[in-house]
Amino acid sequence: MFSLIFVLLAMLSTSSGNEFAGDLETDAFTADLYNDVFETRLDHFSPQNFNNVSFTYYGNANHYEPGGPLYIYIKDARDDTTRWIENGLMVDIAAETNAALFTFNHRYLGENRPTQNASFENMEYLTVEQSLADIATFIRFIRTELSVGYSTKVILWGSGYGASVAVWARKKYPHMIDAVWSSSGVFDINLYSFSQYDLLEYIITSAGSLECHNLLRQALYAIDDLIRSGDGEYLQEMLNLCHPVDTTSLFDIAALYEHYILFITDYINRHHTAGILDFCRAMEVIPGDPFKSFVQWIDYIYGTPECFDPSFNGMVERASDVEWDREGTISGRRQWYYSQCTQIGSFLIADEFSWLPGRIPVFYHMEKCQRALGATSFWDIIRILNPRFVSYNADQLIYANEALIREFGSLNQRVTNVIYTNGAIDPWLYTGITAPQEPRTIAIVIEAYAKSADLTSIDPSSDTVQLIQAKEQIKQTIMEWSFD
Ligand SMILES: *[C@@H]1O[C@H](CO)[C@@H](O)[C@H](O)[C@H]1NC(C)=O
Ligand SMILES: *[C@@H]1O[C@H](CO)[C@@H](O)[C@H](O)[C@H]1NC(C)=O
Repeated sequence: MFSLIFVLLAMLSTSSGNEFAGDLETDAFTADLYNDVFETRLDHFSPQNFNNVSFTYYGNANHYEPGGPLYIYIKDARDDTTRWIENGLMVDIAAETNAALFTFNHRYLGENRPTQNASFENMEYLTVEQSLADIATFIRFIRTELSVGYSTKVILWGSGYGASVAVWARKKYPHMIDAVWSSSGVFDINLYSFSQYDLLEYIITSAGSLECHNLLRQALYAIDDLIRSGDGEYLQEMLNLCHPVDTTSLFDIAALYEHYILFITDYINRHHTAGILDFCRAMEVIPGDPFKSFVQWIDYIYGTPECFDPSFNGMVERASDVEWDREGTISGRRQWYYSQCTQIGSFLIADEFSWLPGRIPVFYHMEKCQRALGATSFWDIIRILNPRFVSYNADQLIYANEALIREFGSLNQRVTNVIYTNGAIDPWLYTGITAPQEPRTIAIVIEAYAKSADLTSIDPSSDTVQLIQAKEQIKQTIMEWSFD
């Protein structure tokens, strides 16, 4: 249904001559989005390789008037939606500045598939630098499409990884990108980080309560006890898993903890303080049994009739399938592993000093990389004997990650015209920029919110006073930077 509407919209927009008319009436859509394609180079950095690929982009021109600025949303990892150019604070700002809004999937994600499949060799062109060059290509393309001159400002915005990419893009192409709004951007991109899990403990205690923290810890320790006593089948039954937990495998145990902690951080990032309070109430539902309360909460929020498979083998198997339109490539998980395992790192780990009972060590992530991307099958191993065969090498990640940090900086971005916004209860807070660094930079930390609460429209019925103030400041700044 979804794609059918896009096909219809695409047909309508081409038949109306000027694709940018944007005033397509349709009952199916609240906002009139249109989509079209632009050409970009498969490899921006080989001067002799002029192979082009065609990528799809989406536009919202409802508010656009010639002379208005161009706002481009850079998607977060695994975001396959167009929602932020349909609704939200930037759309509201566009209504006042007569801006056009655009977004597109990063290369290798969604419909933007430059190669026949997502084999390790074929993902060679999936790098941060290539993605930035796609953004620059798109900006050149859209300027030509709309025939706008250089007085027209281009402003990027994004959330999480998308925010980091947006800031790096301005750094690399300052003559093409005038300003950036980074909402919960992640700039500390070392190989691995403890801070998210550590901060989670503090967030649960401060926004929830010490009691809540203790109950969660007891629940996790109950899981730990079951692992120690080899009760993998009981865990399977309780958590509706597809397989018993292999309580002898460090990888299976790490994968289990990683998935369940992710459920909590994901929930907090979507529901903020109210989410933590909900979670804390749920942890008291069965008095004296935090483990069962936790299980019930997970089931209530994330449960499905089908079994859940957080097993290490299941995880790497899904991420190993190189074909498009498979679970691992549709969700973008395989592509994200590739980026993390070859360049970005940023693996979350918990060591023996962690408040968590389970260990999520670096070597677990490295094994995941090797299994999902490396040579594993008999035929791969035969092919490795060929000296021209390229194969995943986890050791290279250390150098590639250092090179990326040298290239783009870490917590000191040294770039002007950026607003950095962060949530005070975002477990990723310490990887973000929370103080202004250069002239014309603004940094805001919003109390009581986690990730990117500021992307939505101002809503006095649910936003706190501080969130409204932050949104007003973003709005004012973007409006100013849109013309000067
Ligand atoms: C590739 O696309 C660029 C625009 O980005 C265009 O100028 C060039 O002619 C295209 N090359 C080929 C070989 O089609
Ligand atoms: C992936 O695509 C390449 C061509 O780009 C092809 O040679 C290879 O056999 C494909 N791999 C799989 C597993 O289909």
